[in-house]
Amino acid sequence: MCGIFGYVGARTDASALVLHGLKQLEYRGYDSWGIAVPRDGAIVVEKRTGKIGQAETTLPASSIGLGHTRWATHGGVTDENAHPHLDCAGRLAIIHNGIVQNHRDLRRELQDAGHTFRSETDTEVVAHLLEDELGRHGDSAEALVQALMATFQRLEGLNAIAALDVSSGCLAAAKNGSPLTLGWASDGMLLASDYSALLEHTRRMTFLDENEAALLTPDGIAIFNALTGERLPPEVKEVEWSAEQADLQGFPDFMSKEIHEQPHVLRRIARERRQDAERLAALIRDADETHLVGCGTAAHAAMAAQYLLARVAGRRSFFANGSELAYMERFFKPGALAIAFSQSGETIDVIDSVRGARERGAALAAVVNVEGSTLYRMSDHAVLLGAGPERCVLATKSFTAKLAVTLLTAYALEGRVDEAAELLERAATEIEAMLSDWRRDYIRQIAEQIYLQEHLYVIGRGPSYPMALEAALKVKEVSYVHAEGFAGGELKHGVIALIEPGTPCLVLAPNDETHDDILSGAMEVRARGGTIVGIGPRHDEAFDYHVPHADLGEASSIVQAVPAQLLGYYLALLRGHDPDKPRNLAKSVTVE
Ligand code: AGP
Repeated sequence: MCGIFGYVGARTDASALVLHGLKQLEYRGYDSWGIAVPRDGAIVVEKRTGKIGQAETTLPASSIGLGHTRWATHGGVTDENAHPHLDCAGRLAIIHNGIVQNHRDLRRELQDAGHTFRSETDTEVVAHLLEDELGRHGDSAEALVQALMATFQRLEGLNAIAALDVSSGCLAAAKNGSPLTLGWASDGMLLASDYSALLEHTRRMTFLDENEAALLTPDGIAIFNALTGERLPPEVKEVEWSAEQADLQGFPDFMSKEIHEQPHVLRRIARERRQDAERLAALIRDADETHLVGCGTAAHAAMAAQYLLARVAGRRSFFANGSELAYMERFFKPGALAIAFSQSGETIDVIDSVRGARERGAALAAVVNVEGSTLYRMSDHAVLLGAGPERCVLATKSFTAKLAVTLLTAYALEGRVDEAAELLERAATEIEAMLSDWRRDYIRQIAEQIYLQEHLYVIGRGPSYPMALEAALKVKEVSYVHAEGFAGGELKHGVIALIEPGTPCLVLAPNDETHDDILSGAMEVRARGGTIVGIGPRHDEAFDYHVPHADLGEASSIVQAVPAQLLGYYLALLRGHDPDKPRNLAKSVTVE
């Protein structure tokens, strides 16, 4: 959940280069940031709490640097607890992503051995362990990576660690669980938690695998098995994304940019992902049972997939949240198929649960956005969303992209994939219209009417139920309004007690068999003074506000997602919040 960035090479502006890299990674954690470079045989560090914003670095010129942006787990949000952390001699700088489960025992052992700790973090034990190991291995670059591997083997839990060593003038890193990508650039070698931050330097990447280590020198990268020390041939891959895709491209923030990219993404999926969908459909067809899993927004996409497979292909499947599937693991067996939905491909709760399913003989497919991510590499069949880098913490385009891939797959099961592609083209056109015609301003006006409300509810039935959950998540994540989504039929079983005069309620009312029943629910909320915002093709007297959209059959859910994305966005702006970096969150959740 933290952002790691490092550089070693011919350039002498390493601290500024690393700071810029951290800015690209800040969606992974923004409690504090820090950078280390060498000067006169020692390490100098600049670190502080809060977001990077427009900060400039005051560190000296250097051709090597290591930086970190933090999502706090152990130790409060303070300057001392910000990374990098140093050893006692000040010759090593350490950064870390993950949790060192046995940090208390290691800290006691190191303190008994005379080490002095400056922070409350679990991470700092790595600096002192490495200090001891280097004492045994020496000063060379080879010694650094050997010492780092020995240190890595002492750590329990899922961790990515990286070190800058003054003596050898090199970087070394090792990982299991948390992601690390290495970049091969013409003027140096780089490492980062997410390869989108490396794109302006290179598209030639090496994705560090589980329990692998790396040594970065100005001229190259060496890869090792971190458990055995064995040297491994580096796998270099030319990635698809470009640096331009990762920029704001004139938008005020990534949330609005990525909302506006959805038509392009849907068209691309309609034109380029049919074969992938056919392949996924074949896996579902051959499986005895299919399990759909994800977390957060990806869970809502997995749940929506369950409805689509049932409605379009008459196929039963099982949905589970990634953090809950582990408790049902015993039921997995050969012949089962697990399909993991994940933008980042790094969500640890999903990785752990499908790894368990796999160990019990299930096949694994993944619907992910990040090429080279852990789920991408773990799966037997990975469908890349092709949505481009998603930098806003809130998932928007990756959500509708997952729905699009699922729609293609469900229709492919029926041999009607072209029909689904046609529906996606129409959904793209409809969203394009919604983002440029009166409806966008109308949604902002609705936000202006309700932004002082502290509670908001969303109701939907059938395929609109997961959409109601997603709409509520978008509103609460970015505006901090307490929003909840419900199955429309649950209203009378308790939820309606929450409705007071003026309480806003979004009602998802597509032209399907749920239409009449959901409108009855809307009338019941209205009768208690609730303010009804209807989202659907047809107007109704129950609505105080109506955001219409075209009736696109099973693709209606995709269009239905956009009004709530926009409403959340405008509520955030009206309530003075940063739409890209909501409090307490991070883009990919890599710790349990
Ligand atoms: C969604 O807006 C959130 N960022 C969060 O719920 C996210 O969907 C969840 O953490 C899963 O992430 P993933 O798609 O990268 O696995």
